[in-house]
Amino acid sequence: MASRIIPVDTFDLVIFGGTGDLARRKILPGLFRRFCASQIPKESRIIGVARTHLERKDYLLLAHDSITEFSGNHIIDKEYLEAFLGMLHYIKVDAQGEDGWEELGELVRKDVVNAYYLSVGPNLFGEIASRLNKWNIATPESRVVIEKPFGHDLSSAKKLNGILSQYFSENQIYRIDHYLGKETVQNLMAVRFGNLLFEPLWNSQYIDHIQISVAETVGVGGRGAYYDKSGAMRDMVQNHLMQLLCLIAMEPPSQFNPNSVRDEKLKVIRALADVEPHHIVRGQYDLTKTEQSYRQDAENSHSFTESYVAIKTEVNNWRWAGVPFYLRTGKKLKMRSSEIAIIFKELPHSIFEKGEGEKQNILAIQLQPNEGMTLDVTIKEPGPGGMRLINVPLDMTFAEALGDHGEDNPDAYERLIMDVIRGNQTLFMRGDEVEAAWMWTDPIIKAWESRNDVPKLYDAGSAGPEDAMALIQRDNRLWREIK
Ligand code: BG6
Repeated sequence: MASRIIPVDTFDLVIFGGTGDLARRKILPGLFRRFCASQIPKESRIIGVARTHLERKDYLLLAHDSITEFSGNHIIDKEYLEAFLGMLHYIKVDAQGEDGWEELGELVRKDVVNAYYLSVGPNLFGEIASRLNKWNIATPESRVVIEKPFGHDLSSAKKLNGILSQYFSENQIYRIDHYLGKETVQNLMAVRFGNLLFEPLWNSQYIDHIQISVAETVGVGGRGAYYDKSGAMRDMVQNHLMQLLCLIAMEPPSQFNPNSVRDEKLKVIRALADVEPHHIVRGQYDLTKTEQSYRQDAENSHSFTESYVAIKTEVNNWRWAGVPFYLRTGKKLKMRSSEIAIIFKELPHSIFEKGEGEKQNILAIQLQPNEGMTLDVTIKEPGPGGMRLINVPLDMTFAEALGDHGEDNPDAYERLIMDVIRGNQTLFMRGDEVEAAWMWTDPIIKAWESRNDVPKLYDAGSAGPEDAMALIQRDNRLWREIK
């Protein structure tokens, strides 16, 4: 099936932190892929900005090498790459001083869409926003893209929102959570709100519980300094996992537009139950024969930071009363696998002989790898031998079902940057959403801090700490296997 790609308008995109890790790994390769897909007009400008002095040719070399290194299996067409590099510029700008701003102002055009990607530490957001304003570079139509972490607690998030709102209105601010740009995450909305089938069952009457698991094999090596101050709760739960939870639990918005969707997500966050201390398990990976420990990776031999969290919570409203939501995420686990599983209730009454094998229906949404969905249903085992029941998955793996369209899926960042240029904020977090998410997370973190909570150790390469298994087993349930 041929994919239908709609080109965006010509734009000027300024990347603050233009030589940084995110620019090299995600932003530049992602833009190149969209360019190859004919989505980006060649008259557009991509302007890398950083505080180091670089000639334009050096920046092109950096971009060339980043694209070559981080384009995965994508075959790089030399002619396209040359043409793409032709759109790139570099300016040395001092975010905390006045150097370079005039030159930047001369290069950015006011008669095309212009966007500013702040891929820098939050301490620079205010400095950059104020100078974009002072040097008359940004206009009321400009867009500003903000990377996470958006603060480290409620008060710092409020402060950042306050600073940004001095210079930009909310409809100009794009707070990125790249999980919202993942193909399957969007498909979750399509499945829920584009089919009649699921929505009538999507409530406490039919759903037993929900599991959201984001398991990673990577450790924190290389980012220890950042991660050790953050931990899994701030790095993953406050944003990615909560956003996934919102999309599962929200009411159908009246329209698929940014504010309708975000209003509904906000209501979910506000309805989240406070987490009891015994409904949460923190873990930290320990060394094994082959793997370093968290403390070695983070270069902090006394660290109590968690690299794993498992939480049981509920959404306190009519739809979800009594349905537990189990969330877990961790680093250096046995497999990289992210999944949302909707586990439906058992049959109210079985007409078959006991032990015939009916199982609960499970809708499993696999975010990565192998994006797709399966729906476990009970059927009769084919052939003679009486009524023997088996449980089989109805497989909705997208790459197979959609042929080349599936393989061509843009990475989350590519999709989100194109949404910025289109001016579509649906997949970005609104300021009040971020604040509400911190409001729920803050007391949990504060409670750990006040009692110097020590995370449970788990072997690197395992499925996580034993206590996390016990958390769900106490309710006579099991975590889905990480596979
Ligand atoms: C980032 C976190 O936001 O998401 C990282 O800071 C984490 O710690 C990453 O590894 C996971 O993203 P993905 O897309 O690889 O699941």
